[in-house]
Amino acid sequence: MAPRGLARSVALEPVILAGTTVPAVAADLARELGCSTAEADIRRFPDGECYVHVTDDLTGRHAIIVQNTSPDAALVEAMLLQDAAREAGADRVTTVVPYLAYARQDRSFKHGEAISSRAVARALGANTEELITVDPHKEDILRFYPNARSVSAVPQLAARLGEWGVDCILAPDKGARDRAQRAAAILGIPHDHLEKTRLSATEVRMRAKELDVAGKRVAIVDDLIASGGTMITAARQLKEQGASAVYAACTHGLFTGGAVPKLLAGGIDRVLCTNSLPSEGCDVVSVAEAVAHALLATATA
Ligand code: R5P
Repeated sequence: MAPRGLARSVALEPVILAGTTVPAVAADLARELGCSTAEADIRRFPDGECYVHVTDDLTGRHAIIVQNTSPDAALVEAMLLQDAAREAGADRVTTVVPYLAYARQDRSFKHGEAISSRAVARALGANTEELITVDPHKEDILRFYPNARSVSAVPQLAARLGEWGVDCILAPDKGARDRAQRAAAILGIPHDHLEKTRLSATEVRMRAKELDVAGKRVAIVDDLIASGGTMITAARQLKEQGASAVYAACTHGLFTGGAVPKLLAGGIDRVLCTNSLPSEGCDVVSVAEAVAHALLATATA
């Protein structure tokens, strides 16, 4: 946890303005920064439209909004929170989006296709001095924002994996190798990535490119888990190759279609994610420390 006194050095006094999607992150961040939380009335009209009223006076304050952009309605809530913070007098608005949705499409592949991450950036980036997100699926999408940066929850994930006695870290594919490498470096253990070979129309083989996993407790680290299919395929094969335990770790646990029980029934021994999204049935570490460090680094720079 960051020393409380550090928050006092921020030129404008920070205040957390929590949206409805990730209250746990907002509470953790307020604790990390040693700052207060603004009162707000956030409701839905009967037709589903959102209403936001920041009831505290934020004159001369640095409002730090904490809100995801998924599901879609949460994006509108984030925009209204930005607007309400200004109306309440905030001199500076930072928008913290632990899970930044629409991070997967940063170019159009067909004529006439929406570049969804750019469209979201135009809506969300226009009324905030800065946007901070955690481990976006594609780092490159931040170029669509006038002022955005990412922080990584890999150190927090790695610390928990270390407590579990993990012997090596695997990336699910070559493209995700950097994340696995960072986690492994923190723990001082080897890393590798999984290589996929299609054996037939229905059969795929996955194995670590170089590491022998026999007798090892292996953690697969990815940015997100959606259906869990990638992790389950990998776990089954790693177990066949002799891994003594396989842990699935990710920053963003989307866990669509009851993915956590499926993972646990499908060869994964433990599931670890962050609180960037609500989750059940898995171990959770907070992204707040990483976000707080980024905010404090700016404040003291
Ligand atoms: C892919 O690019 C992502 O990093 C994840 O590996 C993928 O989205 C996971 O999806 P699922 O859990 O459905 O296999």
